[in-house]
Amino acid sequence: IDIKTLRGVTGGVTTIDPGFKNTGSCESAITFLDGEKGILRYRGYSIEELAEKADFLEVAYLLIFGELPTAEQLDKFDKDIKEESHVDEDMKKILDGFPKSAHPMGVLSSLTSALIAFNPGSVDVDSEEAMYNAIVKIMAKFPVLAAWTMRKRKSLPLDYGDNSLSYVENLHKMMFAKPNKAYELNKIVIDALDKLLILHADHEQNCSTSTVRIVGSSHAGLFASLSAGISALWGPLHGGANQAVIEMLEAIKEDGGDTAKYIQKAKDKEDPFRLMGFGHRVYKNFDPRAKIIKKSAEEVLGDLGIEDPVLDIAKGLSQVALEDEYFVKRKLYPNVDFYSGIIYRALGIPTEMFTVMFALGRLPGWISQWREMRLRKEPIGRPRQIYTGENLRSFKDIADR
Ligand code: ACO
Repeated sequence: IDIKTLRGVTGGVTTIDPGFKNTGSCESAITFLDGEKGILRYRGYSIEELAEKADFLEVAYLLIFGELPTAEQLDKFDKDIKEESHVDEDMKKILDGFPKSAHPMGVLSSLTSALIAFNPGSVDVDSEEAMYNAIVKIMAKFPVLAAWTMRKRKSLPLDYGDNSLSYVENLHKMMFAKPNKAYELNKIVIDALDKLLILHADHEQNCSTSTVRIVGSSHAGLFASLSAGISALWGPLHGGANQAVIEMLEAIKEDGGDTAKYIQKAKDKEDPFRLMGFGHRVYKNFDPRAKIIKKSAEEVLGDLGIEDPVLDIAKGLSQVALEDEYFVKRKLYPNVDFYSGIIYRALGIPTEMFTVMFALGRLPGWISQWREMRLRKEPIGRPRQIYTGENLRSFKDIADR
C-alpha cells in the first residue's frame, strides 16, 4: 500500500505515539537493526565484520553510497576529502569568541552552522553532484572543527593536520600533536579509534538522525541539518550518555565502589538516578556494539599497559545489573556508551570530548540518511498532535484577570 492510498484509507485519523515508540518515520535501505536478537548491519554487512575488517573511511563510503568502495573509488573519495580539508581562517574568530569553558558539543554545533556562511554553495543542493561536493566538504572540515574544540579548551595552538595521513590518523594528529614536536603515530591508538568510529557510524532513526532528516526535509541544507543533529546527540539520554557514564563510574569509585548501592538507587522510582549506559529504546538484548567495545576496552588497556579501576567498577556494575530482576524484567542491557568512555579515557581523550567523538563517528550515518531522504524526495516532516488545551475563551482585560 503506498502512502497516498494509506492517507485515503485512514481518512485523516491521527495516531498518538509519544516518543514515536511504534512509529516508523521513513523507509530506509541503510541500517538494519533487530533489537530483540541484538543484530546491527550497515547496508547488509554485520557490524562485527565491519569493525574487524574495514576502516572508517570505507564504512563511511559504504553507508553514504550503498556499496563498499573499490580501491579507485576509495582513493578518489580520500583525495577529494583531502582537497577540502582547509577551514576559512575567519572561522577562528568565531572559535575565539567562545569562553574556554564552553562545552565542546555546543562549540561544534555552532561552528558547523557557521560553516554555511563560508560555503554558501553547499546550503541547499539537489543534484547528485552538488550533494557529493557538500558531503566531501563536511567530511573534510568536521574533524578539523572537532579537533579545534578540544585544542581551544586546552589553550593549544591549532594544528593543520597532514594530508599524507589517513582520515583517522589525521584526526588524531589534529587533536593531539604537540606544538614544536614531531607527531608520532601509535597503531594501537589509531586502530582503537577507527573501530570506535565504525561502531558509532549509523543506528537508523535515533533521536539525532531523525533530527537530521526532519530538519533536512525542510530543505534547510546538509550543514544546518547536521548542526541540529549534533545538538540532539548532546543530551545525556542519547550520545551525551558516554560522558555521563564515566562521571557516574567516577562518582561510584569516589564513594567507595559500592555497586549494589547504585543498583538500588537506579531501581528506586523516587530517585531520579538512572544507570547511565544501560537500557535502549530498540535493543531488548545485548547491544552488539557494547559487546565489541567491552572486548576492545580490555585489549586497549592491556596493550597500552593502563590499569583503570573504573573498568572494574563497570564490569562489576553490569554483572550485578544483569542478574537483578529489575533489569532482567525490563530487558535493560549495557548499551554502546557503557564501555566506550573507558577506551576514550585510555586514549587520552578528555571526558567532555566523548560526545564529540560520537559525533565524528555518526557523521557518515547522518549524511547517508540526509542523502537518502533528499534522493527519495521525501515530503517535509510535519507530525500532528492531539490538542488538550482550553476551548474558545473571551479575552479578559488586564484589570479583570
Ligand atoms: N536505569 C534504571 N531504570 C531504567 C533505565 C536505566 N538506565 N533505563 C530504563 N529504565 C526503566 C524505566 O524506568 C522504565 O521502568 P518502568 O517500566 O518501571 O517505568 C523502563 O526501564 C523502560 O524505560 P523507558 O525510559 O520507558 O525506555 P525508553 O525507551 O523511553 O528509554 C533510554 C531508553 C533513554 C536509553 C533509557 O533506557 C535511559 O535513560 N538509559 C540511560 C541513558 C543512556 O544510557 N542513554 C544512551 C542510549 S544509547 C544511545 O543513544 C547511543
